[in-house]
Amino acid sequence: MTKPSLLILPGDGIGPEVMVQVRKIISWFGNYKGLDFDISEDLVGGAAYDAHGIPLHDETMAKAQEVDAVLLGAVGGPKYDTLDFSLKPERGLLRLRKEMDLFANLRPAQCFDALADFSSLKKNVVSGLDIMIVRESTSGVYFGEPRGIFEEGNERFGINTQRYTESEIDRVARNAFELARRRNNKVCSMEKANVMESGVLWREIVQKVHDEDYPDVELSHMYADAGAMQLCRWPKQFDVIVTDNLFGDLLSDAAAMLTGSLGMLPSATLGHVMANGRPKAMYEPVHGSAPDIAGQGKANPIACILSFAMALRYSFDCGAEADLLEGAVQKVLASGMRTADLMGPEGGIPISTSDMGDAIIAALG
Ligand code: IPM
Ligand code: MG
Repeated sequence: MTKPSLLILPGDGIGPEVMVQVRKIISWFGNYKGLDFDISEDLVGGAAYDAHGIPLHDETMAKAQEVDAVLLGAVGGPKYDTLDFSLKPERGLLRLRKEMDLFANLRPAQCFDALADFSSLKKNVVSGLDIMIVRESTSGVYFGEPRGIFEEGNERFGINTQRYTESEIDRVARNAFELARRRNNKVCSMEKANVMESGVLWREIVQKVHDEDYPDVELSHMYADAGAMQLCRWPKQFDVIVTDNLFGDLLSDAAAMLTGSLGMLPSATLGHVMANGRPKAMYEPVHGSAPDIAGQGKANPIACILSFAMALRYSFDCGAEADLLEGAVQKVLASGMRTADLMGPEGGIPISTSDMGDAIIAALG
């Protein structure tokens, strides 16, 4: 049998240092659980720009299309701020999502018991929190045409276009309903149907998919601004939230912070199921490249490690191994070990990025 293949793209900033921890964990699973991956590593974002003058080389893109899953660290940094738009590190990531047609970005926000005190919200509001944001990730205002900065008279204007087709809404809605059935059977769809036609269509199609094929799932609709407010007021009312690319970007950062730190949250971006039965998939932490702390051993590797756990679950049919890894993270947090982002007023045992990786491996058994 051929080994499952994994392309690792560490990227920029803290990406490489958190990825080193993930690689240690992958080796552990190789040594102790017989999970053997065919691993290759390549460049994306600023790192690819530095080497090739573009944020994603065609060869890397081609590799990404071939492997069973991609694991990405983070992209971006101030060094690249003045680059032409088409060369910015973020374009590398967006190209991967678009060309692999990874339309469903799953962003779980779970509050770990040991961190319930750490959230900026009251403990009873966040303890036990477990929500899943399904963010559409190949369309909407991120990719709509026309776009650009143009000139009219003696003034320039910038344009981006929010555009959604019925089938784009349909497929991500189905994904959300399927997930809900395996969770608490509730979906809340968020848009701005009160001001945007794309939102009117979004609401209509989500409702239609529901009525035709998922009538057993409880569906509600919310304007995205009200949704943001409800997320901070009483997040436990939600199970699955399905929303567009831009609202999903904002709402998932907000949801992540409910749980204490952006350094904790993983994501999976999934596309169509391939001939081998696996979905096209890329796994990445929700956090960015955090250039201000890069290279100092301060970064929290947990989001990236949990992204690998999602890969085990969604790409490699290794649910038990994913549970084991998530359990190890819980154990380490319960023991009080904390990277810098998790050090609150109640203290904890301060440890480095690398120590966190080692502690999780020790907790694996
Ligand atoms: C995210 C990030 C990306 C996005 C950036 C880096 C392009 O913020 O994955 O949430 O906006 O999608
Ligand atoms: Mg974001």
